[in-house]
Amino acid sequence: MTETPVLITLINGDGIGAEVIPAAESLLRALNLPLAFQHADAGFGTFERTGDALPRETLDACAASAAVLFGATQSPMTKVAGYSSPILTLRRHFDLFCNLRPARGNGLDMLIVRENTEGLYSRRERVEDGGQTAIAERVITARASARITRAACEWALRRRHKLTIIHKANVLKETCGLFRETALDVVKEFPALTVEEGLIDSAAMLMAQDALAGRGDRYDVIVTTNLFGDILSDLAAGLTGGLGIAPSANIGAQGSVGVFEPVHGSAPDIAGQDKADPRAAILSAAMMLEHLGFAEAGAGVRAACYATAHSGSTRATAEALIAAL
Ligand code: IPM
Ligand code: MN
Repeated sequence: MTETPVLITLINGDGIGAEVIPAAESLLRALNLPLAFQHADAGFGTFERTGDALPRETLDACAASAAVLFGATQSPMTKVAGYSSPILTLRRHFDLFCNLRPARGNGLDMLIVRENTEGLYSRRERVEDGGQTAIAERVITARASARITRAACEWALRRRHKLTIIHKANVLKETCGLFRETALDVVKEFPALTVEEGLIDSAAMLMAQDALAGRGDRYDVIVTTNLFGDILSDLAAGLTGGLGIAPSANIGAQGSVGVFEPVHGSAPDIAGQDKADPRAAILSAAMMLEHLGFAEAGAGVRAACYATAHSGSTRATAEALIAAL
């Protein structure tokens, strides 16, 4: 009997996405696992061509697959009528509440678990006062805070048994207050963990100091709200080897499709020049393999990525990784 292959949707997106995703695809194909691939479109280029950044067919393709490997999309700084970031739509559509962002290098080895559905990403923004006042609503719910903390605790159990809850409850007494209280409540279900808490500003400083000192024992798993996790994970990437090796996963409830993406953006300045480091996309593919139950293959790909430097050419680095495997 032949095994039914696991279906993966590949979305290049914009800019270097069109280079790093094909690089990851060639590596995945070389592994000879029971995987099948389909391609779908999304991004600003797709929006300009079709009027839709995330066409219905793409959503359907994602829904029909076990996992999505997503490149990057270009998001304009200003409002463009009808455009919204496809990665944000995917996270929301599939309720991918858990954003996993590991960072490893310079003595640090941590996993940032970012709440992925609410907070300052609630899209509840408005202007008042004839355009002189702009207001963003930061939505925090006990439900989302509890489920992200639970996911973070489970990851901490698989790692070094340490969890740090990062917030700004000294100022944001209601929103971060609820997040903090809920998280502190949930961690009681995990007595095997050492739990600490910290403020986002001081956490950023300590992380930078630790990287300069090569001290890696402070943070293991960090759980935090959406925008804090966004910023802290870029900081962590910068401190541990840069965006070229920063992968991420967007995970929902059991059985829902997972979306795996490099933390980096579309990098239009180097797009089309075969310069982008494909390792962030390939490390994201490694997270995807582990999520799909191909633990050994995933660990092998990850080890190869950390052991192989980027040669400066996307294709050559991908080929070196394939050869290493
Ligand atoms: C990320 C990105 C996205 C985010 C953008 C592209 C909407 O910065 O995945 O970290 O803010 O979440
Ligand atoms: Mn970001």
